[in-house]
Amino acid sequence: MTQTLFSPLVAGDLHLPNRIVMAPLTRSRAGAGNVPGPLAALYYAQRASAGLLISEATQVIASGQGYPSTPGIHSAEQIAGWQRVTAAVHAAGGRIVLQLWHVGRISHRSFQPGGALPVAPSAIRPAGQVFIGSGMADFETPRALETAELPAIVQAYVDGAANAIAAGFDGVEIHAANGYLLDQFLRDGSNRRDDAYGGSIENRTRLLREVIAAVTARIGAGRTGMRISPEQTFNDMHDSAPQALFNRVAEIASEAGLAYLHVLEGDIAGGPGAGVDYGAIRQRFHGAYLANHAYTGERAAQAIASGRVDAVAFGKAFIANPDLVTRLQLGAALNQADQATFYGGDAKGYTDYPLLAAL
Ligand code: PHB
Repeated sequence: MTQTLFSPLVAGDLHLPNRIVMAPLTRSRAGAGNVPGPLAALYYAQRASAGLLISEATQVIASGQGYPSTPGIHSAEQIAGWQRVTAAVHAAGGRIVLQLWHVGRISHRSFQPGGALPVAPSAIRPAGQVFIGSGMADFETPRALETAELPAIVQAYVDGAANAIAAGFDGVEIHAANGYLLDQFLRDGSNRRDDAYGGSIENRTRLLREVIAAVTARIGAGRTGMRISPEQTFNDMHDSAPQALFNRVAEIASEAGLAYLHVLEGDIAGGPGAGVDYGAIRQRFHGAYLANHAYTGERAAQAIASGRVDAVAFGKAFIANPDLVTRLQLGAALNQADQATFYGGDAKGYTDYPLLAAL
């Protein structure tokens, strides 16, 4: 049967009433202690008609932060803040998973406990600058994690997953994309380690395999998804053989029985692309395949009808259209997202986009 944007989808234990997913979106509005506030509950609840909401990237440990006012999932106060969010989403009939995040080298000592250097697989400074609240600063050369420190990193993801379930989330998404810590281990542009976690693809995928195994053992594979971005150059990322690497990552996700694989099918940094064949990745993963990267409703519908993808995640469209599902169903016009209010601030550009009926 031909599927549409509005066909239900079963992804592991997650039952999506439609295939229109809200992408993870950093909004930098957490309060003191990086606790998501009451407005976050309203913001997510307004978007509860999505087939699935994926939370903004959320640090699993204090040292995993690299931007101002991003929420965490490692303190009792943060768990309580997220409980307000999940309760509001569930009351509005929605489903929400939490994206588990550690930024690795995409940070600055001003975000780090004790003013320490950010950590990474290797001491390689990313090109570019980091926003530290008072302005821009160059990225620093991170400290390479010792092999003996890696079990604690794995444990931070497990604790984050357990805390997410305690906070009422329906599952988690392991963030292995966009140049953050797990992606830094995967790609050879950022991983020059000479221990069991660097070198071959088997070695570079080892930390991710350990995280997947430990998280799924704790909360179940049916509640665990993962995000990857095979040709993303954002955050100064590159790899000498992305197809082989991400084919293997898809196999690993499939062997683990993950509920879904969420693939950013392009380069948000606007690079020429690495010519990655997403069909080859999809073929290796036997759970639900979520695609993301500047899809319009029309392209999403075509991709789903063709069977190439199972669901599509929308970012900017969901920022500006809390009722995106209804609008796509009616073929209605979309509000345009206001870039000036993407990060930080208050209700403006966050919870005040108009609904169709209110226009
Ligand atoms: C960002 O805050 O700019 C950001 C966060 C997480 C991502 C990508 C971008 O995966």
